[in-house]
Amino acid sequence: MSLLIKNGTIVNDDSMFKSDVLVLDGKIVEISPSIEPLPGLEIVDATDRLVIPGGIDPHTHMQLPFMGEIAKDDFHRGTEAAVAGGTTMIIDFVIPTKGESLLVAYDRWRGWADPKVVCDYGLSMAITSWGPEVAKEMEMVTKADYGINSFKFFLAYAGVFMVRDEEFYQGMIQCAKLRALARVHAENGAVIAERCEHLLSSGITGPEGHTQSRPEELEAEATFRACTMASQANCPLYVVHVMSKGAAAAIAHHRKKGAVVFGEPIAAGLATDGSHYYHEDWLHAARYVMSPPLSRDPTTPNALMKLLAAGELHLTATDNCTFDCHQKSLGKDDFTKIPNGVNGVEDRMSVVWDKGVHAGIIDPMKFVSVTSTMAAKIFNCYPQKGRIAVGSDADIVIWNDKATRVISKDTHHHAIDFNIFEGMQVHGVPETTICRGRVVWVNGQLRTVQGAGRFVPLAPDSQIVFSAVDNRGKALEPVKVERAPYEATSALAAPDA
Ligand code: URP
Ligand code: ZN
Ligand code: ZN
Ligand code: ZN
Repeated sequence: MSLLIKNGTIVNDDSMFKSDVLVLDGKIVEISPSIEPLPGLEIVDATDRLVIPGGIDPHTHMQLPFMGEIAKDDFHRGTEAAVAGGTTMIIDFVIPTKGESLLVAYDRWRGWADPKVVCDYGLSMAITSWGPEVAKEMEMVTKADYGINSFKFFLAYAGVFMVRDEEFYQGMIQCAKLRALARVHAENGAVIAERCEHLLSSGITGPEGHTQSRPEELEAEATFRACTMASQANCPLYVVHVMSKGAAAAIAHHRKKGAVVFGEPIAAGLATDGSHYYHEDWLHAARYVMSPPLSRDPTTPNALMKLLAAGELHLTATDNCTFDCHQKSLGKDDFTKIPNGVNGVEDRMSVVWDKGVHAGIIDPMKFVSVTSTMAAKIFNCYPQKGRIAVGSDADIVIWNDKATRVISKDTHHHAIDFNIFEGMQVHGVPETTICRGRVVWVNGQLRTVQGAGRFVPLAPDSQIVFSAVDNRGKALEPVKVERAPYEATSALAAPDA
């Protein structure tokens, strides 16, 4: 468990410098220019390499039961894919079925994840129905040992996960009270349901129907509405999977008005587009079905990267939720039955480096920010995670920024038989991945142990999320005008007075 990383360039979100790093019992214990390689230390040579905080993917769905199927990457295969790609922590979602107790769902997810994860993980909680019991259980899971500090609301998937606006609003009031972050899947689910019916009855049954049922303005409208309601509730908001320029513009609009709102583009949306839905091979098109859909505007991926550079979007995730070809084929006669979701957790770091740093849009420090540090700050586990610093967990990646690799289903570690980035050559390769001081990926080989990852409890009241909220709340307090009681004058008195 003692490790010395020699001769690398450390990259944090705010600085880059050459130094050695000493790791003991899973923690970083020393950072200095030349640490003596004492006997018994495992030496990792990082000459000409970057030493970066392990990636944090704040949005995954391992083994999610969804649309009658179960996502193929479970917590074992999914976290193996993560570490092979330089990600050392994921934040997955507990998603109760409508009406189910949050506590029961929570225990189920912990039961799935704890014995399987090969890297650390945290949990976010979806709110799929509303009532006093849900509000009470929200309070319970933000306290004690449950470790939940964010709640996600779906404005899509009518009849399954979707909540109504008033439920979403009341949920955000509760989030603000508990100092928990509200997260939102922003699409107009009611209009989408109508459009699906219309498209199917017009004979459009293939994957092109998926994108046509969910035009970008339905994402932009729901994003704007979610931001507006969050402002009214004085609740910080985190918009998951920002897929379009319109949704990003809605976030920027509200930030310019002082709202605390974060936007999360995902690897798929940064590296590929919705032209695939029109591919003449049905299965090819079906593989890309996810919601919101990939943008049909081919300039969107580059535009989203530039918005990360400009600080109008804030961090990257993947929404990793994988279904294999057989599962996708269950929707062969009806696009609404194609299980929604794509891969990403293994390729996010390389994709963001390639499309961001290699393309000259962001620098290595911004790369660290959008792949790791921002997530650690927002979800309140910084600087335990998200930084190369003395006292931080030794979640470290030795990154070769000169190397390239070609993404392929034949070499990936996902449990599915295709990869949406198939054939893409990317610059930036994670050569060694270290989780809490243990080398779990080196020389293209996994050295993982099932269940070795730990659950990371996430406490409410993250500084970056809540520091501005109280003062904003004062400005939003209802105004009462103190007046003398109204006395009707004789001229205005009621006729029968
Ligand atoms: O298509 C998607 N995104 N599947 C996963 C569930 C969700 O909406 O996040
Ligand atoms: Zn979603
Ligand atoms: Zn998701
Ligand atoms: Zn394994």
